Amino acid sequence: MSTTIKRREWLKLSALASGAGFGILNGIDVFGRTSPKVLSHVQGDEDVRRLLFNENPLGPSKKVTQIIQELLPRSSKYATFHSYDFMALKELIAKQEGLNPENVLLSHGSFESLIMISSHFGANGGEIIVPSPSFDVVGNFGRKIGANVRPIEVDEQFRLNLSAMESAVTSKTKLVTICNPNNPTGTSCSPQSLRSFCSSVTDKAHVLVDEAYIHYLNSWRNHTMAPLIKEGKNVLITRTFSKVYGMAGLRIGYLLGPAEFVQSMEGKYTLGFPGNMPNSLSVAAAIESLNDDRFIAKSRAFNEKSKLAFYQSLNELDIPFVKSDANFVFYDVQKFNEYKSLMWKHKILLTGGWPSKPNWARVTMGSDDDMQFLVEKMRGKKWL
Ligand SMILES: Cc1ncc(COP(=O)(O)O)c(C=O)c1O
Repeated sequence: MSTTIKRREWLKLSALASGAGFGILNGIDVFGRTSPKVLSHVQGDEDVRRLLFNENPLGPSKKVTQIIQELLPRSSKYATFHSYDFMALKELIAKQEGLNPENVLLSHGSFESLIMISSHFGANGGEIIVPSPSFDVVGNFGRKIGANVRPIEVDEQFRLNLSAMESAVTSKTKLVTICNPNNPTGTSCSPQSLRSFCSSVTDKAHVLVDEAYIHYLNSWRNHTMAPLIKEGKNVLITRTFSKVYGMAGLRIGYLLGPAEFVQSMEGKYTLGFPGNMPNSLSVAAAIESLNDDRFIAKSRAFNEKSKLAFYQSLNELDIPFVKSDANFVFYDVQKFNEYKSLMWKHKILLTGGWPSKPNWARVTMGSDDDMQFLVEKMRGKKWL
């Protein structure tokens, strides 16, 4: 088990979970945001099984922990060293993507980039088209600032409905967002269809592709839309070190986009030195991670194995599910609130109940022990 809380706090948390209404589910609202109330509870000294944030149960890698230990004494300094410099990270990312450092904006997780994008396009009632259900930071933040957010439901196979999204574009549309693979459904778009979608929609609006889970796809480089930036398309990509790299707590991610756009984001939302420079340990950890293909392969293989075992259990329990290209699985429990309450009673934190898929749960692939415990508690379907 990865996280602990105090018994008294646990009872409060369980009460919170069972009383959760439409907007807040398991302390996570329907768009995946966690309430500070829950975060304040997920600490302490009693075990919970934390299968709701899509964190990597293997991470961080040894290389990451080693470099952090080595550089810890240097953390009184900004991340401006010859090695492990924030510019070195930008250069490395750019090199690996066939782009220039001017195409890269580093941020506090990918979340910060997503908020900047939402602020930029959603200002003054800007029209933004988003998929639903999805991990919709851009739409959710956009609503806060008065953007006109238009959700387009996934298709019957739980895939992003690209043709419906394209048809929804109007002369007022500023941005269309894609999450690939999509959270929470776990589906991904075929590279050909997404490429042609991006090529045609970018004539009318910017397209953002959130690639938080892209590394879980085999041959993920065939799936990324980053090459379209080089072709001059108005495509924006967000990536994170929080998932396959196992560094969620280090809070580092980045935006890729046309140089002019990236520079305008920097100009608009950051201010000189140290600007939005991430912390020096995260920068060093990210550099190590980008040179550690083995850890990605190991995480991917572990995740594949967990998913196959979980699919088998779901089949045995006769529970419909969607095959996932990410590190979580979406499945139909019929009575989500009852299921959630039962799982939370067993201290298994998971989420679900998106408005258009109220009966569906989403669970992160955790450690073997966590997954076996989860399946054990699902046997007998006591929530139905
Ligand atoms: C699709 C997607 N994008 C972005 C994020 C934000 O992650 P971070 O801010 O840790 O990079 C998440 C987090 O779960 C996510 O699921």
